[in-house]
Amino acid sequence: MLKGKPFVKWAGGKRQIIDKLKEYAPIEFNTYYEPFVGGGALLFELSPKSAVINDYNKELINVYECIKDENKFQKMCNELNSYETKHSEEFYYDIRNKDRDKNKFNKTADYKRAARTIYLNKACFNGLYRVNSKNEFNVPFGKKIKVNTYDGQNLGIIHSYFNFNDVKMLNVDFEEAVKNAKKGDFVYFDPPYDSDTDTFTSYTEDGFGKEEQKRLAKVFKELSDRGCYVMLSNHNTKLINELYKDFNIHVIEAKRNINANGKKRGKVEEVIITNFENEKGF
Ligand SMILES: C[S@@+](CC[C@H](N)C(=O)[O-])C[C@H]1O[C@@H](n2cnc3c(N)ncnc32)[C@H](O)[C@@H]1O
Repeated sequence: MLKGKPFVKWAGGKRQIIDKLKEYAPIEFNTYYEPFVGGGALLFELSPKSAVINDYNKELINVYECIKDENKFQKMCNELNSYETKHSEEFYYDIRNKDRDKNKFNKTADYKRAARTIYLNKACFNGLYRVNSKNEFNVPFGKKIKVNTYDGQNLGIIHSYFNFNDVKMLNVDFEEAVKNAKKGDFVYFDPPYDSDTDTFTSYTEDGFGKEEQKRLAKVFKELSDRGCYVMLSNHNTKLINELYKDFNIHVIEAKRNINANGKKRGKVEEVIITNFENEKGF
């Protein structure tokens, strides 16, 4: 079976540690849940027959839904082809500013919004996704002369994967997304990272502070008690070690790519936490 791969660059993308994640994942399970799906690296790598994927980011889930739908998928690709030919700094800001008029934006066809999200991801500075308090995308132009917005073969594989399997797509909070998970299902959590430097504040730019990490740890434990296989990745911080001390904490090294400050790129310790030892002995 051909496997797809992430088609957007996403903060916290897991391509670099995909082999480790696979190593720690269970070999057999029923439904796969990925409540913080982002770019979907592990989803595509495992390509499970039954899956529930979710993300809080409405524009991102709309892209997945459009890739699944035959008609919207074709239209989205055509739209992207035309964006590639029109690409320029001025065009970028034109597309970026489409969300400034909320009324109009909400009435825009799904496939056009999906094309916009993919195009902005490829043409913006460093592939970041960032919105301001009014939910307006505000990443500056990435200064690329030419952009390739998609790989037709890869998107074709993903389109087939979504259509020949049972893949449900949700746009809710992570806790809601896993409420139907049952014994024997596999839940993989890849939340926004915790950090030892944002000390006592519960505020973070992505809205996922210490309180959210604690709420997630509670959900992890509930799923574990229910008999699900649960796996979580995060940074190797004090809080994370404390929250998951009753589970298996595997420390690994990962290279971070998305960081505006080149000096800060480098090795950061990550952890993969599981509530089970898999058949491979991990
Ligand atoms: C670290 S990223 C996931 C990266 C992904 N696994 C990959 O390989 O690209 C975290 C994701 O969680 C989403 N998110 C943040 N808060 C959330 C919440 N409360 N519920 C669900 N998703 C949330 C963000 O939109 C973001 O896409």
